[in-house]
Amino acid sequence: MQRSDQTKVAILGAGRGGRALLDLLHQIPSIEIVGIADRDPDAPGLQRARELRVPVTTNVPNLIGNYGVSLIMDVTGDPEMETYLHVHKPPTADILSGSASRLLWELVQHESKLEAELLQSEKLAGIGSFAAGVAHDINNPLQLILGLAENLAEERDLTAVHEQARDIIEAVKRTSAICQDLTRYSRRASPHEDVMVSVNGKLDEALKIARYASSFHDIEMIKHYQPGAAVKGNPDELLHVLVNLITNAVHAMERVGGTLTLETTLLDGQVDVRISDTGCGIAPDQIPEIFEPFFTTKAPGKGTGLGLYNVKTIVNKMHGMIAVDSQLDKGTTFTLTFPNVEPVGQGCLS
Ligand SMILES: Nc1ncnc2c1ncn2[C@@H]1O[C@H](COP(=O)(O)OP(=O)(O)O)[C@@H](O)[C@H]1O
Ligand SMILES: [Mg+2]
Repeated sequence: MQRSDQTKVAILGAGRGGRALLDLLHQIPSIEIVGIADRDPDAPGLQRARELRVPVTTNVPNLIGNYGVSLIMDVTGDPEMETYLHVHKPPTADILSGSASRLLWELVQHESKLEAELLQSEKLAGIGSFAAGVAHDINNPLQLILGLAENLAEERDLTAVHEQARDIIEAVKRTSAICQDLTRYSRRASPHEDVMVSVNGKLDEALKIARYASSFHDIEMIKHYQPGAAVKGNPDELLHVLVNLITNAVHAMERVGGTLTLETTLLDGQVDVRISDTGCGIAPDQIPEIFEPFFTTKAPGKGTGLGLYNVKTIVNKMHGMIAVDSQLDKGTTFTLTFPNVEPVGQGCLS
């Protein structure tokens, strides 16, 4: 998208600092990154730039002299670059370098740490509401184990003993699977590099977790999964997004029941994920507010109002979009759209 009121930014240096700036600035619609330059063709920021389709170059004069650049961000840490820029920059361009760009880099780091903390606190707050669901799901196999063990104490037939022992093992496995799901979900999202994640697999995983958080009583499930739907991102964060959207959908149908539809489509590498409910819907005047932090219509202790805020933050980080379509008393559909992010050519300026 090109707009005349966009700030055109050139980034010099594609190390960790350049890469973080790229990730941050790429999310801001009023900023257009006209290119990123680095002497090292393997610099991590250049790989990221190719994924985001930001032009990459080794030719600094060309990058800063063309394209109507209005801000040059120098994160090379190279004093010679600073001197060069002061002499050669176009008169209409401002430079952010040295300690100013370091300060910006530190702010970006600080913000991403805060974001991770917020995500984790919201997740842990949500897990509080799992207690009843988990207790119920663990209690069932425990009761079964108790019954079988009581029988075993009296049983004389060896074949029956073996059979009951097998049933006990199965029940214990089921219980420990529940514990594993939850510990995996409650841990901090591991900060690994983005990978391709199967959306269909994550939706099923999210369903399992969401069942602990909310009652699926009287809820019909429809799944339309397109095989092969995959997106690039952090698997733990994607799971968190889907758990949030499914939990919200189920909450919206809590008292009356309804239909939860999960759908994925894949077209020309673009993946759409739709989560629809036939619940209470969202009032039109509230739609602009639902992604704001702390906006909730739920009773204290039931909602934090941080779910959709975090969903949006993660989806933006994955270079996706989120849209909502809702009608009061009819239902709501959240659609996530992830563009094809496979690198296409080099996108080089020079
Ligand atoms: N599927 C949905 N149907 C109806 N309302 C919804 C739905 N999803 C979100 N909302 C509304 O958006 C608000 C914010 O959601 P969220 O950020 O997840 O916070 P929380 O669930 O903690 O309230 C909810 O309180 C609710 O009013
Ligand atoms: Mg929520």
